[in-house]
Amino acid sequence: MTTLAAPALPAGLIDRLRRARSVAALTGAGVSAESGVPTFRDAQTGLWAKFDPQELATPSAFARNPKFVWDWYASRRERVAQAKPNPGHLALAAIERRVDEFLLVTQNVDGLHQAAGSVNVVELHGNIRRVKCSRGCGVVATWDDPRPDEPPRCAACGAFLRPDVVWFEEMLPPAALEQAEDGACRCEILLVVGTAAEVYPAAALPGAARRHGAIVVEINPQPTALSADVDHVLRGPAGVVLPALVAAAWPPP
Ligand code: OAD
Repeated sequence: MTTLAAPALPAGLIDRLRRARSVAALTGAGVSAESGVPTFRDAQTGLWAKFDPQELATPSAFARNPKFVWDWYASRRERVAQAKPNPGHLALAAIERRVDEFLLVTQNVDGLHQAAGSVNVVELHGNIRRVKCSRGCGVVATWDDPRPDEPPRCAACGAFLRPDVVWFEEMLPPAALEQAEDGACRCEILLVVGTAAEVYPAAALPGAARRHGAIVVEINPQPTALSADVDHVLRGPAGVVLPALVAAAWPPP
C-alpha cells in the first residue's frame, strides 16, 4: 500500500487557523471519495463520465422516466448507506470542536459529515436519504427502505415521491443558501475541499468569502477552476491533508 504524504503546510496558515475565531468549509464530492462514494467529474471514475445528468438529475428526466431515475438514486442510496466517514470528514468535525464559530457548507447529499460528528452543517443540494413529493405538496420523509419496483407514492396526494436532492434547473433551498452565504462572508478562513467548483451558486462562495477578507484554502489533489483565485492550495487528498492540518494547528500535548 502506498501512503500519501501531506503537502507542506504553510506556517502562516497554521498560525491563522489556530487563532481563528470563525472558520467555514465548503465541501464537494471529493471529500467522500475516500469513503468509496464516487465523485461527479473525475475523468474515469466520476458519475458524469458514465451517466448523462440530463437523463438522471433534472425534473424533466424524472417526469419522462420516474422509474429509471428512482432506480439510479436507489443504487446510490445503497452505496452511501454502506459508506463510513473517512479521516477528512473526521478532521472537519475536529476543527468544529476547536473553533468558536464553524460552519460546514456541503454540496454532498450523503450525510457523511453528520455521521463524522459535524453539527453545524448546511446541505446545499439536499440529502439522498430523504424523499419529497414530486408535485410539491410539501411531504418530506426519510427513506431507508430497500428499493421498490416502482417509485413510491406520496401519502398525501398520490404523486410520485422523488429524492430530496437539488437537480439541475432547480433552485437551491433558499434558507440553506442564505446561511451558506452568510457563513462565507463572516469567516476568517474558508477551507474549500474536494469540489471542482463548477456548479453555481456553491462555486461563488469562495469568491464572496475572499471579498469579505477571508483566507481561502483549496484542498484537492487536482487543479480546479478555483485554484488561481485562492490564497493557499494544498494539493492532496482530503483524508491526508485535513488530518495533517489539524495535527499541525492543534498538536497533541
Ligand atoms: P465534482 O465531481 O465536480 O468534483 C470533485 C472534486 O473532488 C474534483 O475537483 C476532484 O479533483 C476532487 N477530489 C477527488 N478525490 C479527492 C480527494 N480524495 N480529496 C479531495 N478532493 C478530491 O464534485 P462537486 O464539485 O461536488 O450536483 O460537484 C458539484 C455538484 O455537481 C454536485 O453536488 C452535483 C454535481 O452535479 C447535483 O447533483 C445537483
